[in-house]
Amino acid sequence: MLKSSLAFLVLAFAFFFCYVMSSGSYDYFQFVQQWPPTNCRVRVKRPCSNPRPLQYFTIHGLWPSNYSNPRMPSNCTGSQFKKQNLYPYMQSKLKISWPDVESGNDTKFWEGEWNKHGTCSERTLNLMQYFQRSNAMWKSHNITEILKNASIVPHPTQTWKYSDIESPIKRATKRTPVLRCKRDPVQANTQLLHEVVFCYEYDALKLIDCNRTDCWNNVDIKFQ
Ligand SMILES: *[C@@H]1O[C@H](CO)[C@@H](O)[C@H](O)[C@H]1NC(C)=O
Ligand SMILES: *[C@@H]1O[C@H](CO)[C@@H](O)[C@H](O)[C@H]1NC(C)=O
Ligand SMILES: *[C@@H]1O[C@H](CO)[C@@H](O)[C@H](O)[C@H]1NC(C)=O
Ligand SMILES: *[C@@H]1O[C@H](CO)[C@@H](O)[C@H](O)[C@H]1NC(C)=O
Ligand SMILES: *[C@@H]1O[C@H](CO)[C@@H](O)[C@H](O)[C@H]1NC(C)=O
Ligand SMILES: *[C@@H]1O[C@H](CO)[C@@H](O)[C@H](O)[C@H]1NC(C)=O
Repeated sequence: MLKSSLAFLVLAFAFFFCYVMSSGSYDYFQFVQQWPPTNCRVRVKRPCSNPRPLQYFTIHGLWPSNYSNPRMPSNCTGSQFKKQNLYPYMQSKLKISWPDVESGNDTKFWEGEWNKHGTCSERTLNLMQYFQRSNAMWKSHNITEILKNASIVPHPTQTWKYSDIESPIKRATKRTPVLRCKRDPVQANTQLLHEVVFCYEYDALKLIDCNRTDCWNNVDIKFQ
């Protein structure tokens, strides 16, 4: 009798543990915006569907993240993406703020981001809230304009230091963003500005400082 109830307890705990792991526990959010021309430039083999990529920062995703491993959690168990659960007015906003600049299938991009990341924070933000909040974050600080006001505009040859790009964003948001770079496939040992990350605390409402994790040190950054 004692043995079986002990076994039950162990099993119950194991299930609980699995549930907690797979439903995702996270510490904060990374809100990632991308510069579409860089997405397209690094796709050497499969060009972007639109040959003239958008010239403003668009959403890549809102990622619940762990301090210990910012790439986790991901692919949590939870409700899978359903387009019907996104109101049409929200879909039309997302077509501007969160387009798929690579293949052109916006729905597929939203589906992939929700299933990989959104499912891990579903207890904080349901599907509609997740996309609504992301769109609101995108609108709250216009990176394209922040950089333009600091005379950081796409240029074929000019380069910037990490801090040149970080500073105006930091000034505008009062928080430290993270810049992410991609190696330029057509010019060795140079890097292109690809993404700007804002960090938000657990409830996805308040901005916090991010920690630098990307771009090579001591290599200037191209923005084109
Ligand atoms: C995330 O970190 C928390 C502690 O902060 C930990 O309990 C949890 O297992 C981690 N989850 C993943 C998926 O790494
Ligand atoms: C999550 O799923 C996506 C799409 O199926 C896959 O590309 C990715 O590698 C998975 N990530 C992890 C950590 O399993
Ligand atoms: C776009 O992606 C969605 C979701 O994956 C899929 O159902 C749809 O058929 C795709 N549309 C096109 C035109 O490929
Ligand atoms: C962001 O700023 C750019 C450059 O000033 C502008 O073209 C664009 O319309 C702005 N986007 C929004 C949503 O305000
Ligand atoms: C950019 O500069 C314009 C003109 O001075 C100003 O109206 C706007 O608020 C500034 N935008 C940002 C995001 O700093
Ligand atoms: C940044 O690093 C500090 C010190 O290690 C840590 O306390 C903080 O939680 C980290 N923040 C993020 C968003 O990773």
